[in-house]
Amino acid sequence: MIAKKVESALNQQIALEASSSQYYLAMASWAETQGLEGVAAFLYSHSDEERLHMLKLVKYVNERGGKALIPALKAQPQNFKSVQYVFEEVLTHEELVSAEINNLVEICLKEKDYTTQNFLQWYVSEQIEEEALSRRVLDKLKFIGNDKAGMYFFDRDLGSMSGGEVPIMKGTN
Ligand code: FEO
Repeated sequence: MIAKKVESALNQQIALEASSSQYYLAMASWAETQGLEGVAAFLYSHSDEERLHMLKLVKYVNERGGKALIPALKAQPQNFKSVQYVFEEVLTHEELVSAEINNLVEICLKEKDYTTQNFLQWYVSEQIEEEALSRRVLDKLKFIGNDKAGMYFFDRDLGSMSGGEVPIMKGTN
């Protein structure tokens, strides 16, 4: 049986993963309306990943005798000022998620819940990958600057990443 403190912290994480999924979905939809099909495909895929992160937590909480709480959906922004801004937001958001995962691990250690702490190691590794990926994308964008041809290739590259093996897709099963 899972401790109440751990259960409640995991439920907060469920809400955060759900809102991450919605946030990236809003970004994907915006990118699609801007004609950036590759960026959109990448972000749709990222949104799906976040939903899987949420689902994995839901199942874990229920399997451990707790009760997963499915959060309400919040309205998301409809417009974003630039692709650069979108990926800066992705990185900031992923850093927040990483901090929350670390808090969760800390709670597990305090509660001596080594099973959940072990379960969370997957999320710890996943966050390292996701932050690194966001930084790589931002580096590319800085390199491109305002170059339109550069943006064309950037969009194409991101599209091919979401069609093939996307680093953020690894290990979600
Ligand atoms: Fe599931 Fe990207 O945090």
